Amino acid sequence: MTGKATAVTRPQQLWERLLRNAPMFILDVRNRDEFERWRVEGPHSVPTLNVPYFDLLDLEGKEDVAEAVMRGVKTQLMAQLPADRPILAVCAEGNTSAYVAEGLRRLGFDAANLEGGMEAWGNFYAWRPVEESERFSLYQVVRPARGCLSHVLASEHRAAVFDPARHIGIYRELAAALDARIERVLDTHLHADHLSGGPALGQDDHIPYHLHPYDAIHPVDLLPARVAYRPLEAGQTLRIGRAEVRALHFPGHTLGMVAFLIEGRYLLSGDSLFLESVARPDLGGKAEAWTPLLYDSLTRMAELPDETVVLPAHYSDSAAGDGNGVFRATLGELKQRNPGLLKLAEGEKIFCDYILANLPLFPPAYVEIKRANAGLASPDERQAQELELGRNICAVGKTPAPRPGMS
Ligand SMILES: [Fe+2]
Repeated sequence: MTGKATAVTRPQQLWERLLRNAPMFILDVRNRDEFERWRVEGPHSVPTLNVPYFDLLDLEGKEDVAEAVMRGVKTQLMAQLPADRPILAVCAEGNTSAYVAEGLRRLGFDAANLEGGMEAWGNFYAWRPVEESERFSLYQVVRPARGCLSHVLASEHRAAVFDPARHIGIYRELAAALDARIERVLDTHLHADHLSGGPALGQDDHIPYHLHPYDAIHPVDLLPARVAYRPLEAGQTLRIGRAEVRALHFPGHTLGMVAFLIEGRYLLSGDSLFLESVARPDLGGKAEAWTPLLYDSLTRMAELPDETVVLPAHYSDSAAGDGNGVFRATLGELKQRNPGLLKLAEGEKIFCDYILANLPLFPPAYVEIKRANAGLASPDERQAQELELGRNICAVGKTPAPRPGMS
C-alpha cells in the first residue's frame, strides 16, 4: 500500500477540539459492531458517519489504496461529507484511516487521520486543576474514551494518587509537574470497569496501596486478593503534606466502597455518586441485598454540607464536564438534579425500586477485570485492551443503546 496520509490529529489535539466544540466531522471506518460498542465522543455532539472500510473500498488489484478511497467516496459518500469543516478519519489503530484521510485530501477535503486510532484514543489521558491553593493542589485526570477519572493531591512536595488507571506513567508525570513525590496510592473500591494501576504503582514505587478490606475479596469468586494492600478503616485520616484526607465508608456499589473527603471540602465519591446518576449495586450479583446499603450510604453522603464538591471516579456523559473539562458539581447542585438523589429524597422503597428497575446490562468482562484488580488474574496487554474496550457502565440507567450508522 502506498499513499499514507501525512495530516494527523493526535488524541490530545482531538480532546482539545472536542472541549472547544470546534467544527469537526468524524468518518469512522471500523466495522459496525465495533462502532456501536464505542466511538469518539466529547462534551458536545460531533456529526459522525460510520462507513466500514470494506463497504467503502472496491480494491482493483494493486492500485493505490487512496485512489480506491477516492473512487469509493465519489460513488457513495460525496453528498454526506461536509466541505465546510475538517474531517477526522478514524479506525481501530489508525492505519486504515490514514488511507481514507489521504483519499479525502486528494479530493479536496480538509481531512486528517486520528493518529493511533481508537486504541490510542482509548489510552489517552488529560489532566486539569480542580484546586490550586497555597496548602495543596488537587488535579483531575480524565481518560475521555472510557469516562474514567482519577485524582492527584499534592502538598509540600508529597502526592497521593486516587483511582489510578493502569497507565501509571501519567501520574508520575503529573506528580513531577507538581514537583511532588507520590507517597500513597488509594482506590475507592475494587474497580470492575477498568484495570487499576494502584497495585502496580504501590509495588513499583514502594509506597502503600490502600483499599478497604471488604473489597479485597472477589465478590463472585469469594477469593482473597493477592495484591499487597493496606486496609482502609472507616473514618481513618491520612495526611498528604498539609492536606487532610478522611476515608468514609459508603457500601452499596461494592461492600468496601470508600469516598475520600479532602480538607473537608472535596469528596472523591468513587462510584457511589456520579454527576448524572448513582452507583449500580449489582456488580457482586447481590443487587437486592446491596441496594438498601446504597440507600443508607447515599443518605449519609447527602448529609454532608451542600457546598461539598463532588468529584466522581467516572462519568457517562461527556457533556457533564465544565468548560475546562473538569467533572465536578456541588452536593447541593446534585440534590437538585441528580435523578438518583431525587429518588433518594422520596424514601427507601421508592429509591430501591427505582434502582432495581434501572440496572444496566452486566458486562461479562467486569468479573474478569475484578479478578485482575484483585491479583487473581494477570491479563497481558492485548487482553487488557480487550477487557477495557468501550465506556464504563458503572451507573444505573446507562446501558448504551445500539446506534445507527449516522448521528
Ligand atoms: Fe466501580
